[in-house]
Amino acid sequence: MEAAVLASETDFDGWRKAARAMRAAGIEPATARFVVAGAASSGQGGLFDGLDPQPARPHAARGAGEFSVPAAFVDLAREVVLHRSTDRFDLLYRLLWRLADEPNLMKVISDRDVADALERAKNVSRASHKMKAFVRFRQVQDDRGEAWVAWFEPPHRVLEKTAPFFQRRFTTMRWSILTPDGSAFWDGETLRLGPPATRDMAPAEDEIEAFWKTYYASTFNPARLKVKTMQGEMAKGYWKNLPEAALIPELVAASQVRTETMVATPAPQPNTRFARAVARDLHVDRPADDAVPDSLTEIARGVQVCRRCPLYRDATQGVCGEGPKSARLMIVGEQPGDQEDLAGRPFVGPAGQVLDAALAEAGIDRSDVYVTNAVKHFKHEPRGKRRLHKTPNAGEVQACRWWLDAERRLIRPKVVVALGATAGLAVLGRKPAVIKERGRLIDLADDSVAVLTVHPSYLLRLPDAAAKAEARAHFIDDLRVVRRHLA
Ligand code: URA
Ligand code: SF4
Repeated sequence: MEAAVLASETDFDGWRKAARAMRAAGIEPATARFVVAGAASSGQGGLFDGLDPQPARPHAARGAGEFSVPAAFVDLAREVVLHRSTDRFDLLYRLLWRLADEPNLMKVISDRDVADALERAKNVSRASHKMKAFVRFRQVQDDRGEAWVAWFEPPHRVLEKTAPFFQRRFTTMRWSILTPDGSAFWDGETLRLGPPATRDMAPAEDEIEAFWKTYYASTFNPARLKVKTMQGEMAKGYWKNLPEAALIPELVAASQVRTETMVATPAPQPNTRFARAVARDLHVDRPADDAVPDSLTEIARGVQVCRRCPLYRDATQGVCGEGPKSARLMIVGEQPGDQEDLAGRPFVGPAGQVLDAALAEAGIDRSDVYVTNAVKHFKHEPRGKRRLHKTPNAGEVQACRWWLDAERRLIRPKVVVALGATAGLAVLGRKPAVIKERGRLIDLADDSVAVLTVHPSYLLRLPDAAAKAEARAHFIDDLRVVRRHLA
């Protein structure tokens, strides 16, 4: 029996080094063991307690470089290591061992080890996603003023992986996230990781949280959730007690993610083609063009775990299209804005209001329309406490077209309206000349037609009232062209 001692439960680099050394030394999976230094529950009777982390037979590491594994395996292993199962290192070693003779093994998703690893990676990814949605900070005062502390118990060891999300999301706050596995601290400048914590280190549940719980329990219906109404209904006392008022939409959005994405959606089965693509997207950035989602639910689910471009990183959640499957009209915007990112629904913010009013004036009922965006994650940059919209680049539009195309194949609208140049690029597959081409029917390859027009936020930006009225009338004219074609 050969044992390698790893520095911590999430010591991927240590495992990798030790596993390569063992592989090079020809140590069979059945005789290889990986133990975590000082792990009380490792079942090793404390035999390895106090040992310095070191790979077994370090001398064998010399030959390790000769054996190379697919990048997909390394990425997958990085995720699987975070899984809370005790045999995860053994599973990964078995895969590593087999890869020498079966270089294409990772593509064989019917293989038990591969399927097992993919499933564990998916659980880890889901745990990280849930952490983003469920973490609730409570306010504390310390010698530097206001800070925020959260206690959280993730099902897998995702703290380190997920902490950067909170760093980006709450850049201007000082916060700590305490978990049984370790803690993360952000002081506005540096993200630090610390030792495991216990629940009593975080402030006890306070009134605000109790209020939220009662509120959810009694009135929460995510399908009907309107942030404004909800804020209006909230007791003013609670509202003003939260200095970080932006936190409220955040909580709303988070609970919406929870209700809509996590509870209502059954977990995808690992043997479907789509699940395979999702699993692959977890660790590889390349498109999975062979596994096309065949329902709107699969699209909604897939967008939440999509890694086709980097935009998922800074967004609260993916925002999918919304509307009846039978819609004859699809409207494509650019990308979710700040409010859409928090609410998880397209065109619910200021641009959405302009759009709704214009549609009504053109005689189009929004509830008959499938409304979506060219890009599903909010691209933005921080400006103080605000998040400023940034236009997605051509690469991001191209990456996300995969989802838009899937939506188009499922809805098969008669008319696709593209709002602005980015939407035009996504719909037509080429850079459009919006001003020249707007308001006319453009034939598309799938027998539908596109109509190009301006983006409603362009109307919002026009400074003078007369210009705005004229631009708005022109926008409504374009929508009337659409309505006539649908009639
Ligand atoms: N702008 C868009 O393009 N889409 C939205 O969903 C909101 C604003
Ligand atoms: Fe995927 Fe689109 Fe989000 Fe990029 S923006 S991660 S392509 S869903």
